[in-house]
Amino acid sequence: MRRIAFVNEKGGTCKTTLCVNVAAHLAARGLRVLVADLDTQGHAGKSLGVDVRGLSPTIHDLLAGDRPMDAIAVRTPIQGLELLPANKELAAFPVAVASSPDRAERLARRLDAIPAGRYDAVLIDAPPSVSLVTENVLVAASEIVIPVALTYLALDGCAEMVQSLDAMRAARGRAPALTLVVPTLYRKTQLADEIVARLRARFPAELSAHVLGWSVKIDEAQSHGRTIFEYAPRSSGARALAAIADEILARAPAA
Ligand SMILES: Nc1ncnc2c1ncn2[C@@H]1O[C@H](COP(=O)(O)OP(=O)(O)OP(=O)(O)O)[C@@H](O)[C@H]1O
Ligand SMILES: [Mg+2]
Repeated sequence: MRRIAFVNEKGGTCKTTLCVNVAAHLAARGLRVLVADLDTQGHAGKSLGVDVRGLSPTIHDLLAGDRPMDAIAVRTPIQGLELLPANKELAAFPVAVASSPDRAERLARRLDAIPAGRYDAVLIDAPPSVSLVTENVLVAASEIVIPVALTYLALDGCAEMVQSLDAMRAARGRAPALTLVVPTLYRKTQLADEIVARLRARFPAELSAHVLGWSVKIDEAQSHGRTIFEYAPRSSGARALAAIADEILARAPAA
């Protein structure tokens, strides 16, 4: 079972957009997919049409308590795609587990307990922060995808993510593999093209062959709680997200 986290400590880089739409595309290809929302904003659930405000139980009860996975995972309108929903409850997680020696491994242990064959992939939507929650995400993930919004400070955020991985490898002896770096919110400007060129030089093997262009349809889809494949299946945004999802599928690490 692949465990792919969408991470960038910087906010608004399309982590959630990629996570839910890649999940939907993999589900459409017949895979059984679980999306784990690790963000108090609950945007993965909202983007999949699940009303997460006031929802209980949530992923907080899975991580901080001993509620079983089956009591937390909910179906989504998309066949083959289930969700571990999050909302503001998750803000209490770091304090709730502060004195537990396994506090950084909670998500990893819960995913380890999933019966073999239940899901083909778990896609983890990380929050825009450096926190105990992000540490749980990096410990639990076998792979990461870094979406990089093509703005002036983007390279900084990407470099910091790579430093976090290096620090983790030094401290724990392992870190998730970097599967893909995806340029996002692309608009044709000289600066954007320069940033893509620098990403290509820094990540020659990991840079995606596709960029996610700026598209109002993608923003609209999210505001309606739909994936782009439901909302505007013939749009350029849908084509780009499908191509990126297929690239992630094709880059499965050797078992
Ligand atoms: N390609 C796109 N074109 C235009 N708007 C987009 C695109 N992708 C995402 N958006 C919009 O940009 C906003 C941020 O996207 P998203 O929520 O995926 O980022 P994020 O990295 O998950 O943010 P956060 O760090 O807050 O979790 C959302 O309103 C989303 O609808
Ligand atoms: Mg998000």
